Amino acid sequence: MFADKILVNFSQIFSPIDKGRPLRGKEMAEAVILENGYIAIKDGKILAIGSGEPEDQLKGDSTVIIDYSGKLASPGLIDCHTHLVYGGSREGEFAKKLNGVSYLDILKEGGGILSTVKATRSASFETLYHKTNRLLDKMLIHGVTTVEAKSGYGLNWETEKRQLEVTKTLTKDHPIDLISTFMAAHAIPEQYKNNPDEFIQLIIDDMLPMVKAENLAEFCDVFCETGVFTADQSRKLLTAAKEMGFKLRIHADEIDSIGGVDVAADLHALSAEHLMAATDEGIRKMSEAHVIGNVLPGTTFSLMADTYAPVKKMLEAGMAITLSTDSNPGSCPTANLQFIMQLGCFNMKLTPVQVFNAVTINAAYSVARGQSIGSFDQGKQADIAIFDAPNVDYPLYFFATNLVTDVYKNGEHVVKNEVRH
Ligand code: NIG
Ligand code: FE
Repeated sequence: MFADKILVNFSQIFSPIDKGRPLRGKEMAEAVILENGYIAIKDGKILAIGSGEPEDQLKGDSTVIIDYSGKLASPGLIDCHTHLVYGGSREGEFAKKLNGVSYLDILKEGGGILSTVKATRSASFETLYHKTNRLLDKMLIHGVTTVEAKSGYGLNWETEKRQLEVTKTLTKDHPIDLISTFMAAHAIPEQYKNNPDEFIQLIIDDMLPMVKAENLAEFCDVFCETGVFTADQSRKLLTAAKEMGFKLRIHADEIDSIGGVDVAADLHALSAEHLMAATDEGIRKMSEAHVIGNVLPGTTFSLMADTYAPVKKMLEAGMAITLSTDSNPGSCPTANLQFIMQLGCFNMKLTPVQVFNAVTINAAYSVARGQSIGSFDQGKQADIAIFDAPNVDYPLYFFATNLVTDVYKNGEHVVKNEVRH
């Protein structure tokens, strides 16, 4: 079969090994690295990859050959945890943070997530659509081709729905594929301050069935944290969501360890996220239940904290790890997954291969897309990030600079020489 396009002369291709499940523990150090490689694309899918000159049988009269001498290719990066759709911004809280006021104290005073809730409630669909579209463009030029997007800045049906509809519309309109997560349980709304159980019940009885009926989200998530939702409330919500057919993820052990990890293990959530305060016992449970550990070092960095998720212990316990931005207006305002990958190396001492596996094959499984993205296996989507880098180590070492020059999404050349097309 002839290729439509063959991208040739890559100095390296990073090619994760797809075992039909996420890579766990020691497996995360494994990958195929092809020198002088090529990638052949047919109908938006991977047809073949290899080293050296592409075989003649791939080349027809209309096959386009594009030269990428000196560059590195990896599967399109997958950002598997973002709070993507929101109104306003929170640079006003930055000075408070610099003066040592904590994230949870800002939230207690009605700031933090609650101030973004106010801004999101008053933003129209169009405003949210255009703002999110711009953010996605920024992510795309950094090599990201798939993004998980959580709601949770509405805390009432009207606004949660608007956020989910923006996500649904943009997944059609924007080259980036979006995976939608319903997260109304992101903070306790003002009127339920003294009765969070009632808010959980409202989500279960009213909102979840509507999300399902209108097919607005695939996953359900909850912020299990001191001052937000308890482990019991989280368990109740996620149990109901699971019964309705939602896949599960959970914000657990972000600041305090209050049992979110047990909920993740008992309900077999696909992923437990943040995990800065994860304990040895929690790690053992997640490992046994095959819960993916999604670590977000940009949040530690942005919260000016010094606790990074104990990722080495997770790997020693045989867990699968993903890395993501947590992109949101409060605890991690960024569109640059490459910087987060670098923090994975600089501050968590992961290796470049572990980091690339985390944001490709493992991230694909964490959003239930392992069959179609995350590696260069034949028939998967031709989602490709191309770096101005000679090898897989370089983009982790040369930090805080966008090294992605070109991006292909479903075989389409959507970023060309650093410009979005
Ligand atoms: O993942 N943990 C809860 N939510 C976000 C923060 C969102 C915000 O501060 O607006 C997080 O850190
Ligand atoms: Fe988050």
